[in-house]
Amino acid sequence: MTPHKSYELRKFVSPEFVFGSGSLRLAGRYATNFGASKVFVVTDKGVIEAGWTRQVTDSLEEEDLPFIVFSNVSPNPRSDEVMQGVKLYREAGCDVIVAVGGGSPIDCAKGIGIVSTNNRDVMEFEGVDQIPIPGPPLICIPTTAGSSADLSQFAIITDLPSHRKAALVSKMLVPDTSLIDPDTTLTMPKELTAITGLDAFTHAVEAYVSNASSPITDLFALNAVRLITSNLLKAIDEPDNMDYRSNMMLASLEAGLAFSNASLGATHAMAHSLGGVEDTPHGESNSLLLKYVMEFNYDAVPQKYEAIGEAMGLDLKKYDYAGGKNAVLEAVAKLIEACGVRGTLAQRGVRREDIPRLSRQAIKDVCMVTNPRPMSLEDVERIYERAL
Ligand SMILES: [Fe+2]
Repeated sequence: MTPHKSYELRKFVSPEFVFGSGSLRLAGRYATNFGASKVFVVTDKGVIEAGWTRQVTDSLEEEDLPFIVFSNVSPNPRSDEVMQGVKLYREAGCDVIVAVGGGSPIDCAKGIGIVSTNNRDVMEFEGVDQIPIPGPPLICIPTTAGSSADLSQFAIITDLPSHRKAALVSKMLVPDTSLIDPDTTLTMPKELTAITGLDAFTHAVEAYVSNASSPITDLFALNAVRLITSNLLKAIDEPDNMDYRSNMMLASLEAGLAFSNASLGATHAMAHSLGGVEDTPHGESNSLLLKYVMEFNYDAVPQKYEAIGEAMGLDLKKYDYAGGKNAVLEAVAKLIEACGVRGTLAQRGVRREDIPRLSRQAIKDVCMVTNPRPMSLEDVERIYERAL
């Protein structure tokens, strides 16, 4: 007997996480519990300036734990930065990693961890389940409400020589503990709030329509859509409002649990390819592509997109099929525009002659596998052209 689609075999992986105001101050206690003798703190300059790294290192000091801080991490973390971090980690004799920041320091910390135990170049782990040995204990403290790198089985690393963004997917990349403290998002500037929030929205949408979704990931994905629709613009307008900030952090957590287990789709595959070439912020790349990918996918899983529209507050009963489709696509486009992401890929430096190369990379990305409608190379090229 063929099982109902909703009950196909699915696993669900999540790190232990502590959600709530003040959770970052538990970093020292968790590092001690992992048996740390010296902690390698991975962060970036913006997070140091905002004061969050200091709060984390203070909590390590309270536990009498020595540490060193590595902050040479680009907005799209690079393979050479990972390898440089590994060298420092080894020289300093560290045995636990604490990552403080957005997706970039966290992904870099994941790379440092697995390279330190596997003794191979980080780019050799590209793809699904390519990491034989787990890294040292990893504690993550996210400071944006969007990437969910602190929960996910993903790490995205840019290979500088080939200008390629590689997706690494493995259970070995799930952190051991995530301390999710909404207070850390209070210092995010408006633009970062917008693009990280839209990244979380894209995670929720792509995980929900993914052909690897499950009833469990669906719950998280749809609730994330609800939370983001009703809190993102408010968090941008009133950055000091803790309710909006906390709701966005919760949305990011839920979207992260969904996509880490259901994976993503063509928007992320195409955004990864774009990010490797133009260094456009990841959330912005997604936002410029999402509506075109949704338009392409819609007829493959219309009930799923209708549920997303309803989670966004639309009353789809008053429309016929085509009207409903239009309303859902419009609602997503409006949300993105209201967040201040406008314009085209060309305005970000993408040229028409780049499209064949971008498309060849995107079609090979692991996120393409779970897109609900199969895409040919020509389909990918057409979508890039529409977004140009
Ligand atoms: Fe993303």
